[in-house]
Amino acid sequence: MQHQPILVIGSTGKTGSRIVKLLAQKGFPVRPGSRNSSVPFDWDQPETWAAALAGVRAAYVSYFPDLAFPGAAEKIEALTQAAAVAGVRKLVLLSGRGEAHAVACEEIVRNSGLDFTLVRAAWFAQNFSEGYLQAPVLDGMVALPAGDIREPIADVDDIAEVAVAALTDDRHNGELYEITGPRLLSFSEAAAEISAAAGYPVCYQPITLEQFHDAMLGIGGPVVADVFTEICRETLDGHNAYLTDGVQRALGREPRDFVEFCRNAAASGVWKKAA
Ligand SMILES: NC(=O)c1ccc[n+]([C@@H]2O[C@H](COP(=O)([O-])OP(=O)(O)OC[C@H]3O[C@@H](n4cnc5c(N)ncnc54)[C@H](OP(=O)(O)O)[C@@H]3O)[C@@H](O)[C@H]2O)c1
Repeated sequence: MQHQPILVIGSTGKTGSRIVKLLAQKGFPVRPGSRNSSVPFDWDQPETWAAALAGVRAAYVSYFPDLAFPGAAEKIEALTQAAAVAGVRKLVLLSGRGEAHAVACEEIVRNSGLDFTLVRAAWFAQNFSEGYLQAPVLDGMVALPAGDIREPIADVDDIAEVAVAALTDDRHNGELYEITGPRLLSFSEAAAEISAAAGYPVCYQPITLEQFHDAMLGIGGPVVADVFTEICRETLDGHNAYLTDGVQRALGREPRDFVEFCRNAAASGVWKKAA
């Protein structure tokens, strides 16, 4: 079984790319699963799934764009069935904290009959460095419909380590790990810490959900704008403003602090302004 590969769906993304790297460093055979990998996996082309799942012993499942999108639950259900048919023994699902649609997808995996671990993550620190907020950071202004709520921002390096532990060690079977950072941060405080690390002013601008929707319309069109606005309405209302112990339970250590994220992101050059 050790020689069978582990499929990483979303292998070029924020979590998946780290998981691929960590698994390879630990000597586990990995099969990257994205639209351009050598064995392609495309959520929108189910005919690609059987080849991607063939001979695989475990799979990391990060859904794109988000489990709240129309049709996501049906695809997660279909994927679990295809995984079972292919003889995959275990699924590790990336889920989002405080999101009803994500919980529905967790239940599908929980009831799949396969071994599973659920990794339910808080808002990613790397949204500021590798995601849709990298450009706003460079522009010095991050606008979100988050008022003055506080969020226990999670480091994607921690999420990846938890997923790798889950994929490679059966002691994590059946667990739900809720991943947060070690402290609550308002988005103004986060912007101030980014500022200090980046070496130029970065401000947080609270905006309304309507303003966020308008901005998203220009980026992704009406469905993307509607769904991401609903995700913000659901998750940025303060109900996630508490810490959990998923990293401690899965890895036996404290989660990385946002200061460490800022230091690493600045050192990587992602916040360097063009000369
Ligand atoms: N951002 C947050 O704060 C946050 C918090 C909690 C949970 N999450 C969850 O994180 C998940 C996203 O994970 P991530 O941030 O690691 O990924 P990501 O950085 O958004 O990257 C997306 C990945 O999905 C692949 N992809 C895109 N379209 C695809 C398709 N049609 N079929 C197959 N693969 C496709 C991309 O590769 P190719 O383009 O090469 O195909 C890439 O590997 C979402 O489900 C989201 O709900 C996010």
